[in-house]
Amino acid sequence: MIKQGAFTVEPWSLREASLDLDLLAQSESVFALSNGHLGWRANLDEGEPHGLPGTYLNGVYEARPLPYAEAGFGFPESGQTVINVTNGKLIRLFVDDEPFDVRYGELRSHERVLDFRAGTLSRRAEWVSPAGQAVVVTSTRLVSFTQRAIGAICYEVEPLGSGARIAVQSGLLANEQLPPPGGDPRVAAVLDNPLAGEYSEAERGLVMLVHCTRRSGLRIGAAMDHLVDAPDGAQLESRADADGGVTTATAGLKPGQRLRLIKFVAYGWSGTRSLPAVRDQVRAALTTARQCGWDELLAEQRGFLDDFWDRADVETDGDTEVQQAVRFGLFHVLQAGARAENRAIPAKGLTGPGYDGHAFWDTEMFVLPALTLTIPDAAASALRWRHSILPHAIERAEQLGLKGAAFPWRTISGDECSGYWPAGAAAFHVNAGHAQAVMRYIHATGDDGFARGPGIDLLTHTARLWRSLGHHDAQGRFHIDGVTGPDEYSALGNDNVYTNLMAQQNLAAAADAAGQYPDRARELGVDPEESASWRDAAEAMYIGYDEALGVHPQSAGFTQYQVWDFARTAPDQYPLMLHFPYFDLYRKQVLKQADIVMAMLLRGDAFTPEQKARNFDYYEAMTVRDSSLSACSQAALAAEVGHLGLAFDYLGEAALMDLRDLENNTRDGVHIASLAGTWVALVGGFGGLRIRGGAVNFAPRLPEGLTRLAFSLFIRGQRLHVEITHAAASYLIADGDPMSIRHHGDEVRLLSGRKRVCKIPPAPVRHRPSQPHGREPARRRGGGLDG
Ligand code: BGC
Repeated sequence: MIKQGAFTVEPWSLREASLDLDLLAQSESVFALSNGHLGWRANLDEGEPHGLPGTYLNGVYEARPLPYAEAGFGFPESGQTVINVTNGKLIRLFVDDEPFDVRYGELRSHERVLDFRAGTLSRRAEWVSPAGQAVVVTSTRLVSFTQRAIGAICYEVEPLGSGARIAVQSGLLANEQLPPPGGDPRVAAVLDNPLAGEYSEAERGLVMLVHCTRRSGLRIGAAMDHLVDAPDGAQLESRADADGGVTTATAGLKPGQRLRLIKFVAYGWSGTRSLPAVRDQVRAALTTARQCGWDELLAEQRGFLDDFWDRADVETDGDTEVQQAVRFGLFHVLQAGARAENRAIPAKGLTGPGYDGHAFWDTEMFVLPALTLTIPDAAASALRWRHSILPHAIERAEQLGLKGAAFPWRTISGDECSGYWPAGAAAFHVNAGHAQAVMRYIHATGDDGFARGPGIDLLTHTARLWRSLGHHDAQGRFHIDGVTGPDEYSALGNDNVYTNLMAQQNLAAAADAAGQYPDRARELGVDPEESASWRDAAEAMYIGYDEALGVHPQSAGFTQYQVWDFARTAPDQYPLMLHFPYFDLYRKQVLKQADIVMAMLLRGDAFTPEQKARNFDYYEAMTVRDSSLSACSQAALAAEVGHLGLAFDYLGEAALMDLRDLENNTRDGVHIASLAGTWVALVGGFGGLRIRGGAVNFAPRLPEGLTRLAFSLFIRGQRLHVEITHAAASYLIADGDPMSIRHHGDEVRLLSGRKRVCKIPPAPVRHRPSQPHGREPARRRGGGLDG
């Protein structure tokens, strides 16, 4: 866990005032830089000490066998693991022959700052070598949002007290040695030497290395070039071999003089292009960056972020820690998705190897809600990636004896990589989630080209899956049996309410799309009978209800199970999956994460307000939040039903997931879904935003801990600005056509440039529900977390 106070609280940056080597791996994740294509963990410039070295390229993985003690038909045989590609961040420093290493000599001060507006990580260290020579080292690095192949570092060293002979050695290093993994199944497999050298070159300051992955056959090029500035000139020398290359700059410096090295690093990779083609691609990117120069890269980065914050900033007055955490989260969401460009958004972004670098439903259900309404192009690109793996999903459905498409639970390149099918392949709900993300995107943007292209393809194939997976019973009711819902402490249930409601929406949307785009539907082989069968299934969808308890059972029979013995579960036995067998979790009433609560959030139209309140309380008492995906959904629903204080506590948990390392695994990368979920908790929770069938509804209400919440949304190309206080909400569209929204159920007509102010009705009075013993969220009071 990261203790309170590790980072200073400030609204636009994350500052670490001293270096704690015990938290190195965590800080490497939270300070990581990425643009969605290239990711650099925040390893110290000199490479060591490190928690976990990491440089990632989105889509670059190695294949590995998935061994089973007892294999079965349809089990995936090959896994995929993100690999640590060539490290281009390395800059080693030698002060009069002694290597700069924070573990030796005296580290007088050390500060790192992640600046959310500049898009840079900067560092300042004052160090005295064991021989007594003091130096100040400063470095600023960025991973460019505007030139997606590029990372760059400005590194400066200055002797203090007396002059010194300085050597700065900038490196490219492939096949870095990685620390062995622990026993936690959520971390990645470690592959030894995944890169086979194909080409190396060193010429003046420039070094280039090209490697191929051994099994997946991907070719990766990395190159670096430098600009050096020292008072009396510096000597420069470069060399390279298969797995490494260095450029060394040396100079004698007097006190007050500085050596400055600017390092440009370019990456490129391909599964198809030849060695010369990859080499040229990398060289072109490098030349462009070098010609552009450091200052221009910095200016472009700021310009990109100015635009992002103008669109996406969420202001939370009254709690600076939440404000910082929200911006930290949005910054990482942007980093994960900004330039992914038709590639996946992995659960950890490109900040660490956790979950093997796989993408899950996290993208569509947690990340895309925020991206769709702030930077819709990034959402479209993520959905295009999903569409690009449709052939894999069609093949997988065939293999499982089903129609349509069965998208993978976890993957990098499109194939199912989950070897644990009860909570992997059986989690068919992901298909309806992808369909909902398509609908959300189309409703929010009106992008007709997408709707008649990838949109209808995705809706059609997922609807076909549901029609073949479910069945009508003798009374005509449609059931979906033997599937796993969002809660992974239950598996293979019948009629999981979340799954059925999401499938229902998916089936109806596919039938609508077939009506709207009949030509494309015909090309996809949809005839009137098929689309009528989707409507029948949707209309007849069975949604279970426990009359005696007055709640929806998560899946059939769930409310009859024995309740987990929370009183006898010790705090250190969480997460439960690391201490109890799944068979026991599966047959008890205990939830890893929100399930019905997600159904109520995403299909709120299917529940009455009373049902929502009762369901929320019932499941609250057995949800242990062993998944980082839970708190944000619980926050949003708690706000809707009127538990505003509890919602605020959950917002804090979601927002601080990584800044406090609440799941104890931030070392493996940040939790992108939880960070994006913070936006959902604020905009969907306290803003009460629900977009249904194109209608935009708000039901805002603030918790005591906030005095004002403000955000913008982009709906059909128009900016809608919303500001909420305890008393009222104001809505403004700056320009464009009139637009209608609903505020707590009342229609409000918005005319461009005219702010409408609407009063906020009081929240219903409700008792705070209880959580499992020991799993209560920390209370946020007076702007901080208690307990
Ligand atoms: C959750 C899944 C999630 C995955 C990746 C698991 O702990 O239960 O719902 O998709 O983590 O974030």
